[in-house]
Amino acid sequence: MVLKAELHCHIEGAASPELVLSQARKYGVDTSDFLRGGAYHWHDFTSFLSAYDAAASLFRSEEDYALLAEDYLTGLAGEDAIYSEIFTSPDHAERAGLSRMAYTNALGEGIERARTKTGIEGRIIVTGVRHFGASAVEDAARFAAACGHPLVTGFGMAGDERFGNVRDYEKAFEIAREAGLGLTVHAGEFGGWESVEAALNHIRPTRIGHGVRAIENPDLVHRLVEENVVLEVCPVSNIVLNVYPDYASHPLPDLLEAGCRVTLNSDDPPHFHTSLGHEYHVARAHFGLDDAILHSLTRTAIEAAFVDDTTRRRLRDTLDAKTVAQ
Ligand code: ADE
Ligand code: ZN
Repeated sequence: MVLKAELHCHIEGAASPELVLSQARKYGVDTSDFLRGGAYHWHDFTSFLSAYDAAASLFRSEEDYALLAEDYLTGLAGEDAIYSEIFTSPDHAERAGLSRMAYTNALGEGIERARTKTGIEGRIIVTGVRHFGASAVEDAARFAAACGHPLVTGFGMAGDERFGNVRDYEKAFEIAREAGLGLTVHAGEFGGWESVEAALNHIRPTRIGHGVRAIENPDLVHRLVEENVVLEVCPVSNIVLNVYPDYASHPLPDLLEAGCRVTLNSDDPPHFHTSLGHEYHVARAHFGLDDAILHSLTRTAIEAAFVDDTTRRRLRDTLDAKTVAQ
């Protein structure tokens, strides 16, 4: 058994079709535009983002969000995950009529419930949505910096990478950095290697969401290695969203070979018919990674996690103890 840890999962994108249908019944909403036959329906990145927004709009109360986080993390623990960072989006909560703080407290409550049931440790990475614009992302950063929630340990940016210039978001990340939050930013998914370089130059994060397109520039790969930047790789997402046509074209093995620090993640699991367990399975089946390498990817995730030293030590100990016990 390989223990797992996840650094890159959008909590609204993790809502299972069953849970979304039950929310839709609760609020009397028709979901046939984006959910049919018990599965999400979309056809490209733009329509995926619309389906994501539509599902998110069905989570409106504190209990809705607590249930969402509890449901996701409990399932993750069932796949032998010991740690999970969820990307949260206060903008989506506000659009659904809930305050940022109530939303964050509710997700924190869901994380605590899952920990009580299963032992899984969780943290919250507040994200801004790039295509909502720089001032919305700064507002999200100001919220993350000021909210004081003990599980909020990081700040990130998701959304459409093709929108705007990463320089416009520097201020948001400065606000988060000054507050002591860990930083991660989506780049190198739809934006090409240039977007990874721009993220390194302007944001200086310790982690990059995706980052896989860096492979197109060997000097940049070298820089990622030199600067110890960790990539939150989401293989199934990349195939389903057509960043790569097939697993044979996916650069994860080459990034590893070059010495990049890589982790495995599910991104928006039910949208992509995946789960963290499935990502590990794909890495084994399509990239030929054995248990020792998969274990090292989990270790990389623990080393790159936005947690205090005591928690990191405990997670490391859990990982090592389970491996020795095999
Ligand atoms: N938001 C949710 N999933 C995303 C992805 N794969 N890329 C960018 N933004 C997202
Ligand atoms: Zn993502």
